[in-house]
Amino acid sequence: MAKNNAPTLMDKLGSLCKRRGYVFQSSEIYGGLNSCYDYGPLGTELKKNVKELWWKAMVYERDDIEGLDSSILMHPQIWKASGHVDGFTDPMVDCKECKMRWRADQVDRDKGCPNCGGELTEPRMFNLMFKTFMGPVENEASVVYLRPETAQGIYVNFHNVREAGRQKIPFGIAQIGKAFRNEITPGNFIFRTREFEQMEMQFFVKPGSDEEWFDYWKEKRVAWYERLGIKKDKLRFHQHSEKELAHYAKKAFDIEYEFPFGWSEIEGIHNRTDFDLLRHQEYSGKDLRYYDQEANEKYIPYVIETSTGVDRLMLTALVDAYEEEAERVVLRLKPQIAPIKAAVFPLVKKDGMPEIAQKLFADLKRDFKVFYDEAGSVGRRYRRQDEAGTPYCITIDGETVKDGTVTIRDRDSMEQFRIDQGKVFDFLRERII
Ligand code: GAP
Repeated sequence: MAKNNAPTLMDKLGSLCKRRGYVFQSSEIYGGLNSCYDYGPLGTELKKNVKELWWKAMVYERDDIEGLDSSILMHPQIWKASGHVDGFTDPMVDCKECKMRWRADQVDRDKGCPNCGGELTEPRMFNLMFKTFMGPVENEASVVYLRPETAQGIYVNFHNVREAGRQKIPFGIAQIGKAFRNEITPGNFIFRTREFEQMEMQFFVKPGSDEEWFDYWKEKRVAWYERLGIKKDKLRFHQHSEKELAHYAKKAFDIEYEFPFGWSEIEGIHNRTDFDLLRHQEYSGKDLRYYDQEANEKYIPYVIETSTGVDRLMLTALVDAYEEEAERVVLRLKPQIAPIKAAVFPLVKKDGMPEIAQKLFADLKRDFKVFYDEAGSVGRRYRRQDEAGTPYCITIDGETVKDGTVTIRDRDSMEQFRIDQGKVFDFLRERII
């Protein structure tokens, strides 16, 4: 809630997400678990659609990228080699009064605790990886980590995937999966959470061609946001300064979105050089070089990485789509990612209309996520679907009974027009798939 108690856009979006079944606080009946969220019926669909759109662009439409689904728990040496055990840390300060914890680089120590003004401790380094134990014994030797990024699962499978997919450099490996970080200051709803899902692609290239591939992926990725339906003027690049660069990166750009809480990163594009493969070669003792037949030489490839978060993209899509109008709240989600593609309504519950509507609903649900509703006035039913982000409502009325045409109502323009009942499937297919 804002200081003057008027709900902010993020508050309003949060309530819509709960009301319509997009996002719930995790463990809500126990008072909630901070920074963890559950996705409801519509949230689950949106999440699936965002992932499918990414997978389509990154895997199906390309011959040079293969998919992978590696395990969350991996050999602990992987995180030594990657630098995460020693370097994946944030400086942290605690308030001596209210005990709140802050990232030292995000507070002004002279002003004290942002919550109560209390005195802050000296900064301490805090590792963001969650630790657990594998097997029955809880000791140092059985420590394993929940992965803080999916990328390492790709590096350690580089040769497995290359051989199985009969790929030659340049080629990439894409993966979607959960990652975990014990963030000191999570927040802004699902923007920064401790459990989240990443969509990462590692593109392996010949050293020397890395700059060119970096530029290629930077442009390719920002263009993909149009497919997600994001407004162009809300996106920008931010180049990492020397100070901001991660320990593995030679060059990095973030794609940022202008959220109500300011411009923030939604995707990172990194030139990771040969850092990761070299380190895994050193720590595993295996030769990870690639044999380039044409040049008759062996080398460790460079890696261009594109990395984004599913949850963060869902928030981006929801914020971007949210609009308040005089008479309604509407989520203008792109039809390709909208959870429900169409709602089917009989105008009234008599005169054969429910039967026709049920039949159309049964036909459509074989291919699309559709919704049937016969409760309340048709105007109220439209409003509910506007809030849910459903692009089309199809009404069966008196005319349908006479001539077989139905009314289609467009969410964005609110315009209504009639089409033949038999053409509804093609109408949806052309706009959605
Ligand atoms: N493999 C590189 C990597 O993990 P990153 O910039 O730390 O790079 C990449 O993360 C993306 O993952 C971010 O742009 C964001 O979309 C998502 N992400 C990172 N931390 C997150 C968190 N705590 N909650 C939600 N999404 C997160």
